[in-house]
Amino acid sequence: MTQQSAPTTETNPATTTEKPWGGRFSEPTDAFVEGFTASVTFDKRLYHHDIQGSIAHATMLTKVGVLTEAELKDILTGLEAIRQEIESGSFQWSVKLEDVHMNIEAALTERIGITGKKLHTGRSRNDQVATDVRLYLRDEMDVIATELSRLQTGLINLAAAEANTIMPGFTHLQTAQPVTFGHHLLAWNEMLQRDYERLIDTRKRVNILPLGAAALAGTTYPIDRNLTAELLGFDRASENSLDSVSDRDFAIEFCSFAALLLMHMSRMSEELVLWTSSQFDFINLPDRFCTGSSIMPQKKNPDVPELVRGKSGRVYGHLMSLLTLMKSQPLAYNKDNQEDKEPLFDTIDTVKGCLRAFADMIPAIEPRRDVMHEAARRGFATATDLADYLVRKGVAFRDAHEVVGKSVAFGVAENRDLAEMTLEELQKFSDIITADVFDVLTLEGSVAARDHLGGTAPAQVSAAAKRALTLVKQREE
Ligand code: ARG
Repeated sequence: MTQQSAPTTETNPATTTEKPWGGRFSEPTDAFVEGFTASVTFDKRLYHHDIQGSIAHATMLTKVGVLTEAELKDILTGLEAIRQEIESGSFQWSVKLEDVHMNIEAALTERIGITGKKLHTGRSRNDQVATDVRLYLRDEMDVIATELSRLQTGLINLAAAEANTIMPGFTHLQTAQPVTFGHHLLAWNEMLQRDYERLIDTRKRVNILPLGAAALAGTTYPIDRNLTAELLGFDRASENSLDSVSDRDFAIEFCSFAALLLMHMSRMSEELVLWTSSQFDFINLPDRFCTGSSIMPQKKNPDVPELVRGKSGRVYGHLMSLLTLMKSQPLAYNKDNQEDKEPLFDTIDTVKGCLRAFADMIPAIEPRRDVMHEAARRGFATATDLADYLVRKGVAFRDAHEVVGKSVAFGVAENRDLAEMTLEELQKFSDIITADVFDVLTLEGSVAARDHLGGTAPAQVSAAAKRALTLVKQREE
């Protein structure tokens, strides 16, 4: 025998229960406990990555001489057939076999006989599940990164198109100073850009191979973990076997990324909901993104942003679940860890759904430019510009603030904006004011004057949109 191979003696089925771990048990699992402890109903979604991990593991075992080439061939053929069965829907999942790992292993053994039982040599479900979840999450993170880029691209393009559109900027949700709609949209993009960077940073810690840790202490077989890491596209193998099987930081980090993203999307949602209301009426969302009311015929509701706003709750909840799941857990693997999956899976599904809805909807926003302009005009949005004008003419800022405050009070009483007052009326509050004041009292003059990096001037917004788009495009390389 040229290759060292795992022993091939069949165990006597009469001495075991039907469980792969049943050797030391003398009675079958309680029927309720069987369902209670099983995870296959939700972890079967890991099947693709479980097979991917098994293929790499078997390939490595063959390279180091634990399996023969012939055994590897049987394992690969068997796993491929099982993958096809699962994808065609004909695979029979069994709760009796507890989880995705043992379902696939049992099916493999049924297909290829004793060689199927050798696949688990030198590994445990503890390092197997940690590997599967990392592989699965890595793929989903890449999908999420692409979808986030699509949302950002649509958002930035809209911002570039609306670089000249004037709207009121708010503090305390009261009209503060005029800004451009493009500038407002690019503020959203900054939030999303940070989310993207967090996602990419988290991926570094997801992309580490735990396999080889086995149950907790490593294995006596001469495994080559660097090879397995390479075969699976991991950046490296993990350092410590105890940590490898128990670490779920990467899942918590992902959920933390997701919680921040959803927090940002809830802020965007809130503004979209406000802006589509007839009280604001700043934008229209096309009908295909809205729904009606079954009782009030006039209603058109912004359901998509409302739902995204609402979904932030479950994503925060999942983050809290995982933190609590891991709190105080002793090393190394504990069955508690099986509870990591549902929160993580639902977070992934929710993030993907929200991103898709927003990436489709944001480019379809129809701004009502006249309404935004009028809202800015009515709100004394250029009051600060008048104060700055007085300061430039030598008035101390606090005095200027006072003069403008009185002018605004007069405007409120008269129902007129600052730009709608006559020169004589304005001069009643300060004789320093001359006819050139009207240049700064226009909304266009106000935004154009904020002409510096990070400012709302249309020229700055156009340049910022260009830079933002370059950052997103670079990702494709
Ligand atoms: N279904 C289990 C999980 O998701 C797999 C690992 C089980 N390991 C064990 N020793 N019971 O965590």
